[in-house]
Amino acid sequence: MIGVYDSGVGGLSVLRELLREMPGEDYDYFSDGAYCPYGPKPPQEIVLRARTITEEFIRRGAEMIVVACNTATAAAISELRARYILPFIGMEPAIKPAALHSASGVVGVLATAGTFKGRLYLDTLARFASDVKVIEQVGTGLVEAVERGDFDSPQVEALLRRYITPMVEAGADHIVLGCTHYPFLEEAIRRIAGKGITIVNPAPAVARHARKILSTLRPPRTEGTGSRIFRSSGDDTILKQLASTLV
Ligand code: DGL
Repeated sequence: MIGVYDSGVGGLSVLRELLREMPGEDYDYFSDGAYCPYGPKPPQEIVLRARTITEEFIRRGAEMIVVACNTATAAAISELRARYILPFIGMEPAIKPAALHSASGVVGVLATAGTFKGRLYLDTLARFASDVKVIEQVGTGLVEAVERGDFDSPQVEALLRRYITPMVEAGADHIVLGCTHYPFLEEAIRRIAGKGITIVNPAPAVARHARKILSTLRPPRTEGTGSRIFRSSGDDTILKQLASTLV
């Protein structure tokens, strides 16, 4: 079984890609709804949650864990890799493809406060973004909106306008979704950003990477349909609703 977790329902945007890549695998999805959002929390708290969730996944028979949350990856993935022997797949802020393909030399990144503060983000920036101007924006309120199942209310639209418009005005031609909740807002983001802007969602690349890593253990099940379990530490209404659109 492959364990996939996030602070909430955002990781379903990654599970969707994993299901495309390896539909025959068994997946156990955990939403840490009772502790959502992770973004403003101290890293130590996110590490503790990561350990608790990992140990439960191991008890349930996980062979590999996908940390389908940029904030949890930033805070906890090195600790998880050092402590447990199974492979962990994390989220990478997709700065590299955005910087590589940007013609204007301006790239917008929308992520949580925790992700921007993490070493992983700063390292990625230093390695791949030295030739581009990066406009960082914390998506305050967006995770909460997605957790309510609100993808395009006037309030969400207003928040997105506030976050996206300065990127567009600065000439950004790529906007990186640095939080796994944001693909649920992609339509609204696209509407606000306009046609000439590429929205970069790292989830498909993460799913391909997961398949590659799993194939070092055994052949991944790329056909058929495996089992899917959805659990939450909090209210699971929206999780069940969104999950039913995936499986
Ligand atoms: N989906 C999480 C991420 O990718 C959201 C973090 C949060 O709960 O604030 O960063």
